[in-house]
Amino acid sequence: MSTPDDTLAALRGRRVVLCVTGGISAYKAVEVCRRLVDAGAHVAPVLTDDAQRFVGAVTFSALASEPARTSLFDAAEPIPHTRLGQQADLIVVAPATAKVIGKYAHGISDDLVSATLLATRAPVLVAPAMHTEMWEHPAVVDNLATLRARGVHVIDPEEGRLAGGDIGAGRLAAPERIVEAAARVVARDGDLTGLRVVVTAGGTREPIDPVRYIGNRSSGKMGFAIANAAAARGADVVVVATVRRPAHPRVRVEPVDTAEQMAAATLAAAATADAVVMAAAVADFRPKAAADTKIKKADGVPEIVLEPTPDILALLGERKRADQYLVGFAAETDDVRANAASKLSAKRVDLMVGNDVRSGDSGFEVDTNRAVLLDAHGGVDEPGLVTKVALADLILDRVRDARRPHEGAHA
Ligand code: CTP
Repeated sequence: MSTPDDTLAALRGRRVVLCVTGGISAYKAVEVCRRLVDAGAHVAPVLTDDAQRFVGAVTFSALASEPARTSLFDAAEPIPHTRLGQQADLIVVAPATAKVIGKYAHGISDDLVSATLLATRAPVLVAPAMHTEMWEHPAVVDNLATLRARGVHVIDPEEGRLAGGDIGAGRLAAPERIVEAAARVVARDGDLTGLRVVVTAGGTREPIDPVRYIGNRSSGKMGFAIANAAAARGADVVVVATVRRPAHPRVRVEPVDTAEQMAAATLAAAATADAVVMAAAVADFRPKAAADTKIKKADGVPEIVLEPTPDILALLGERKRADQYLVGFAAETDDVRANAASKLSAKRVDLMVGNDVRSGDSGFEVDTNRAVLLDAHGGVDEPGLVTKVALADLILDRVRDARRPHEGAHA
């Protein structure tokens, strides 16, 4: 008999609803079920009709902590979906088909799995599995982005052999990875409750005239990943942003354009914040005077005189309260670690996240990042190439570890 190791300890004694939907990889959900039970979780399985075409409910009943449910209308229980959802500590959907992802993103409930997903406040982990064409379809991509922004956790499928002998992205993540992800979700659930977090996101736009500006390539993906993850973990979040992106319902978005506006909004919000994360790419210089009307080509090449903008992070560092945690980003094209280290001390931050913005899979516009985390105590962490969502959680782990809310601090 296997014993749960430390990474799975968070699952012990937790109620997990395991939702199985209809894909060829439904048989792997049997292994997910067994591993959850081995880790000490109380597992309640729910199968859709389609799932039962691939795998039998009786298999799950035999392995799980209670009999598998398959219908909204099981005679003994008039409203199983609300009971399951209310009592759950975690809901895992594995495998999650394009169909259940679409229904969940659009609030459609027509069976016990989709009803349970809507009738819960517990964290949800979705493990998609489908053919590559479906996985890459814009409808599925959009639905998953919607769910992620709402705080739903997604464990991406792997590349590999798919049904029918095809090879590509879309294969269900390995059962042990799903169970490890489940443990991380449970361990982080509500761990930032009571914290006030301010995040900045996107690149500032410094006007040249009413139609043109000086900008940069920042997409705001990293900042929104942090804001949404913080909200999903229970924090009260303000994101001061130059871009619009899907936001968790508990994230308050303060739209700004320029460095000046971002400075005003961020410094005001920071006064009562427990943590501030400067993920925005703030312009260092702006045109000294923006033209009131559109500059015309016929008037010749304009001479644009620049002046410095406020360094928001440096100002935050000067004003930082002893109980406030300050995170900066260092966007670098060379010597990432050394440059990030000098910004760490110059701007008096607690954590500096140095990232290489020149490689194709890291930095601006992409969904992944390769970062080095430098803290004020000399600690160095290099998580390698990870999704921005995963990096967001690693940064927020530092916030949590440094600053747990004091009782009554915000009375
Ligand atoms: N930052 C800021 N205000 C500015 C410029 C930068 O708050 N006017 C913040 C960024 O949000 C980031 C950190 O400072 O968290 C580092 O930004 P970066 O652009 O990497 O460094 P700079 O200080 O601008 O230095 P350089 O451009 O010389 O690399």
